[in-house]
Amino acid sequence: MKRIIVTGGAGFIGSNFVHWVAEHQPGVHLTVLDKLTYAGNRANLAGVPDERLTFVEGDICDAALVDELFSAADACVHFAAESHNDNSIADPSPVVRTNVEGTFTLLEAARKHDVRFHHISTDEVYGDLALDDPARFTEETPYRPSSPYSSTKAASDMLVRAWVRTYGVRATISNCSNNYGPYQHIEKFIPRQITNIVSGIRPKLYGDGKNVRDWIHTEDHSSAVWEILMRGEIGETYLIGADGERSNIEVLRAILSEMGCAADDFDWVRDRPGHDRRYAIDSSKLRRELGWSPVHTDFAEGLAATIAWYRDNEDWWRGAKEATEAKYAAQGQ
Ligand code: NAD
Ligand code: DAU
Repeated sequence: MKRIIVTGGAGFIGSNFVHWVAEHQPGVHLTVLDKLTYAGNRANLAGVPDERLTFVEGDICDAALVDELFSAADACVHFAAESHNDNSIADPSPVVRTNVEGTFTLLEAARKHDVRFHHISTDEVYGDLALDDPARFTEETPYRPSSPYSSTKAASDMLVRAWVRTYGVRATISNCSNNYGPYQHIEKFIPRQITNIVSGIRPKLYGDGKNVRDWIHTEDHSSAVWEILMRGEIGETYLIGADGERSNIEVLRAILSEMGCAADDFDWVRDRPGHDRRYAIDSSKLRRELGWSPVHTDFAEGLAATIAWYRDNEDWWRGAKEATEAKYAAQGQ
């Protein structure tokens, strides 16, 4: 696997994956296919050596372009998506198009050119768990998505499974929990609160703040995806998680403390409609069968490094701040 297409490689997790491969896997050439929506940024790939990377600005729904790129590739890792729940609630249309039609377009090209395909999905396809439920999600948990975003990710997973079974496409799927780290768009929970504090805006917490997310550092997501791409069994699904369950208020208080603010220096705001209560991943299959384990196991340390990254890279996010907050303000959030 020397020539790998990375869709959505200018977004948060995709660009972190590109940096990780460039650093850890010599001899691999990456072609990033990215539409550069509001969430994509070419600057996220700065520092990746030219000889390791071809950047193509384009849409995964563009069948002719996708066909051309797949005709010269060994594998595709598919990150591109409309990835934000709040946006999907405000306007589901681009979410359905990119997440469902885009995945269909890529699968058709993978089928035609026999390209190995790895589909990046989310734990949200499994719906949510009660706070006091001892269970965590496994590969056998039934699909029960809640939001327009998670329902389109569930639909795309189903397409991948059908293309494996019906057409013999060589594909795998991974469903990961909430990522944090550098290059995450400031609409998302952790970077929004950090950049609010830097900007003198009070952080905003939805609902009662007790919703739980299972945090994983994005570099650990990258290493897991690489293991699955290299050694995963075709047709299989692997859950990726790092045992990082924390309530939103716990995470916010950790940010406030690390940034020298008082514990109550934030605003309660309107809850997200249909807000999932808790996500929790059991990643034992990935650990047992492929020997993967996370490196970033100290959340406080990972969070402090992430805060430092946003402080040091204000040029990277400042231009998007006003519009992002205006959109939230219009939604009462
Ligand atoms: P992101 O929003 O930061 O990046 C998405 C990227 O896809 C952007 O660069 C954007 O320009 C590109 N894109 C969007 N529509 C496109 C189109 N039609 N054609 C080509 N490119 C297009 O998203 P992210 O947080 O990096 O998520 C990446 C993937 O990981 C998604 O599939 C998401 O569902 C999944 N995921 C995310 C998380 C998380 O915590 N962020 C957790 C689990 C799974
Ligand atoms: O679980 C994986 C998913 O994680 C991915 O599939 C999604 O692409 C990714 O966006 C993320 O979804 P969430 O909805 O969990 O992430 P978000 O950062 O939007 O919100 C995290 C939690 O914080 C959620 O419970 C809502 C809450 N929140 C969010 C924002 C932006 C707040 O309380 N305040 C906020 O300002």
